[in-house]
Amino acid sequence: MSTLSPSRPLSRRRLLLAGGGLAAGFVLPRANLFAAESNATIHLNAGPGTASVVGPDRPQTAVWAYNGRVPGPEIRIRQGDRLRVVVTNSLDEETTVHWHGIRTPNAMDGVPHLTQKPIAPGETFLYEFDAVDAGTFWYHPHHHSHVQVGRGLYGPLIVEERDPIQVDRDVTWVLDDWRLLEDASISNDFGNFMDMSHAGRVGNTVTINGRVVDEVPVRAGERVRLRLINAANGRIFGLRFKGHSPRIIAIDGHGVEPHEPADGRVVLAPAQRIDLVLDMEGGPNARTEVVDDFYEGLAYRLADLAYGAEPPLRSAGSDAPVRLPANPVAEPDLANAVRHAVTLGGGMMGMMAGAMVHGRMTDMRSMTRHGMAWAINGVTHDHAQGHVMDPIFTLKRNQTCVIAVANDTVWHHPMHLHGHTFRVLSRNGEPTRYREWQDTVLLSPRERIEIAFVADNPGDWMFHCHILEHQAAGMMSAIRVA
Ligand code: C2O
Ligand code: CU
Repeated sequence: MSTLSPSRPLSRRRLLLAGGGLAAGFVLPRANLFAAESNATIHLNAGPGTASVVGPDRPQTAVWAYNGRVPGPEIRIRQGDRLRVVVTNSLDEETTVHWHGIRTPNAMDGVPHLTQKPIAPGETFLYEFDAVDAGTFWYHPHHHSHVQVGRGLYGPLIVEERDPIQVDRDVTWVLDDWRLLEDASISNDFGNFMDMSHAGRVGNTVTINGRVVDEVPVRAGERVRLRLINAANGRIFGLRFKGHSPRIIAIDGHGVEPHEPADGRVVLAPAQRIDLVLDMEGGPNARTEVVDDFYEGLAYRLADLAYGAEPPLRSAGSDAPVRLPANPVAEPDLANAVRHAVTLGGGMMGMMAGAMVHGRMTDMRSMTRHGMAWAINGVTHDHAQGHVMDPIFTLKRNQTCVIAVANDTVWHHPMHLHGHTFRVLSRNGEPTRYREWQDTVLLSPRERIEIAFVADNPGDWMFHCHILEHQAAGMMSAIRVA
């Protein structure tokens, strides 16, 4: 791929930074497992902290974190339970929390100025909603996101099915990508125009659950449900589990017909989640690689699966069913749908001459002087200044909407819709095989897709690119459900 911004040589830097012999923290600290049942309230404190990102024998990294750790605590509840989270802002700038992918009432969506006043330093905010959908979700700030998420503010939110599938272990990997300096501190060049107008902030250090990992201990014969969450600002992952045949059972939290990934590669754009069923097919003491080769010429080893010496857990593979029950998402009524077109424009090597910025036609040159590089339907949005966004269109409640999204740029864009889950109907005119339910859909350069959903959640909802630098440089919009 020719369009990746020339970031620093990843694999060499990563080798420089990787501590030897680190085994992954396979299990994340959990906040109040089944908090709702015990009627507990979860407390999240967003503030500065330090984390051992590159290993215990290396310098600590100054981060921003929830409850002092990266990722923030894994919140686990059960479908149908009520989640109550009190967020305290101990940063010295405003923040909010967005519950990415899970359908909430608008007032709980965490978008500054659109759905709530940002949480001022020293203030708290109570988020409270019912977990209607089961699945793998995550939480992160929606204010100044490219800096706040980039410094470590994110955590997993797992909603368990009432009747989960049978696996030996249920494991979460929150993937992130950091741009670190030699002393393991975070490079301060957030928002530089190169990142904003090209592939986003692609870093040089990839972590699983907040640290560089050399090996992940596994046992022969076991079946793992592996929940992957991409919390990176800009990096897209393309994971190969060498010697294994993972099956995708959920995308963005929602069950999908279990299938092996196209080409054997699990592609995960920023903000996306994929649940895999991974049968540990190697024998005792085997060692296999997990490789990320999404960007051509920049493949690297993410970690090894390191088999223990124990005999296999079972002699033949498990034949327990792995299909997940459907979530209660309304089925789009395509015959009576209203159709809208959304065009993504801008970026380097694009053809965009200019866009509307704050109601004024502005040429690309003066846009770039103000750090703006992208547009949706010809409009560049900038909510850092607290500008309230006018919706690009308004939907009647319970109406089915088909959006045809055209990527008129030479860059990838994972587009995220708040408050709803949509089906991906087609790509470049071809119907999708699985009609996946998603909340974030990756568009390749020049790709055209169609998505459909029932507009059953009233409010103003963001529709934006989840490459956080693209979002900050104007690639966002809102849709109103009245
Ligand atoms: Cu994950 Cu609008 O966000
Ligand atoms: Cu984008």
